[in-house]
Amino acid sequence: MTGPHPAPAETASVPADISLADLPLREDLRGEQPYGAPQPDVPVRLNVNENPYPPSATVIAEIAAAVAEATASINRYPDREFLALRAELGRFLTADSGGGLVRLEPENIWAANGSNEIMQQLLQAFGGPGRTALSFAPTYSMYPEYARNTHTRWVVGHRAADFSIDTAHAVGLISQHRPSVVILTSPNNPTGTALPLETVRAVLAIAPGVVIVDEAYAEFRRDGVPSAVSLLPAHPRLIVTRTMSKAFAYAGGRLGYLAATRAVVDAVRIVRLPYHLSAVAQAAAHAALSHRSEALARVQDLRSARDDTITWLREHGFSAADSDANFVLFGRFRDRHSRWQGLLDRGVLIRETGPDGWLRVSVGTTAEMAAFRAALLQVAPGGNELPAVRDNGRQDAGADAASGSADRAASPADEGVGR
Ligand SMILES: Cc1ncc(COP(=O)(O)O)c(C=O)c1O
Repeated sequence: MTGPHPAPAETASVPADISLADLPLREDLRGEQPYGAPQPDVPVRLNVNENPYPPSATVIAEIAAAVAEATASINRYPDREFLALRAELGRFLTADSGGGLVRLEPENIWAANGSNEIMQQLLQAFGGPGRTALSFAPTYSMYPEYARNTHTRWVVGHRAADFSIDTAHAVGLISQHRPSVVILTSPNNPTGTALPLETVRAVLAIAPGVVIVDEAYAEFRRDGVPSAVSLLPAHPRLIVTRTMSKAFAYAGGRLGYLAATRAVVDAVRIVRLPYHLSAVAQAAAHAALSHRSEALARVQDLRSARDDTITWLREHGFSAADSDANFVLFGRFRDRHSRWQGLLDRGVLIRETGPDGWLRVSVGTTAEMAAFRAALLQVAPGGNELPAVRDNGRQDAGADAASGSADRAASPADEGVGR
């Protein structure tokens, strides 16, 4: 049946006067809000680090054909192990990281509906009541929520003023809290900072549990910046997570994955929901992956556009953090919310996130970046409104250190021990 059909007179509606407070919600979820990056309909959307380029007509047709084929047997549950897709992901990762030196078998790869789901599965397997997960702020805002969802205690340290992780600080915090999970994000969101492998090695050497390196943005890293995938052969408790959302321009398709030892994959297979990755999701991702050259060519354009944006921002008196991702953290503003609102009023949506004074812009198309630059010059013609910082957040010598950002990037509220 199609079209609207009026409800018969005797239809009863579902009660609308019951609120969350009336429900037997878990105590630790009271007062919590659902994930809420705004999705308003504005002309220029540069707020959630999406890839601005949709697939070509050829790739759309290939994905549609693969989905049609999968639909022919949609009466059956999907292949629970999806080894063909895992093999293809392994081939991509081998080529992308370490010049093909790391051999990744399908059994070393696991995939789910976005790297969000991968991360939650990892915390289900390795976190839990009485256990601790630890990371370093400012970083991706969802991690504490995976910890909350899995009843894992959350501890967060801080990144340095240049957004790197100080090894002594990391080692001290890990020794103190003995986390079963450490999450390192490289390149980091929202700062764009890639971690040197020495930092990852130092954390691996001291961490008593698993170490996850979230490489959601790794394909955008600058030449010569290594991936933690190269450390996998020597480190059995290392897990590298990736996503097709960014470089593959596949955020709507929802496909994230990890690379690790077979034992880690086996652990995740214990907690995953049966048939979590639908036949349609598997087929579409496989087709998109088979045509990766098109998306990856765009990655080169986006890297150049990112570098140009950083140069332009600095030339116009703004601070801009170095970035190995498809976004740029810039500022610094006395009242960043009013600058963010000013851009939105001009049809440009970016993200109000990161340390005080900074804003984050995702790299869009050439036209979108031109619109961003024009709007920014209108809302903040003078550039920096706070003591200038050079490059990666480091304050200029002699600048006023009283703003409190001279030796650490996170505000005190970002730090501490959570549930
Ligand atoms: C650091 C980081 N990790 C993971 C994700 C989640 O990506 P997805 O669930 O789309 O794979 C994001 C998304 O923005 C991110 O910034």
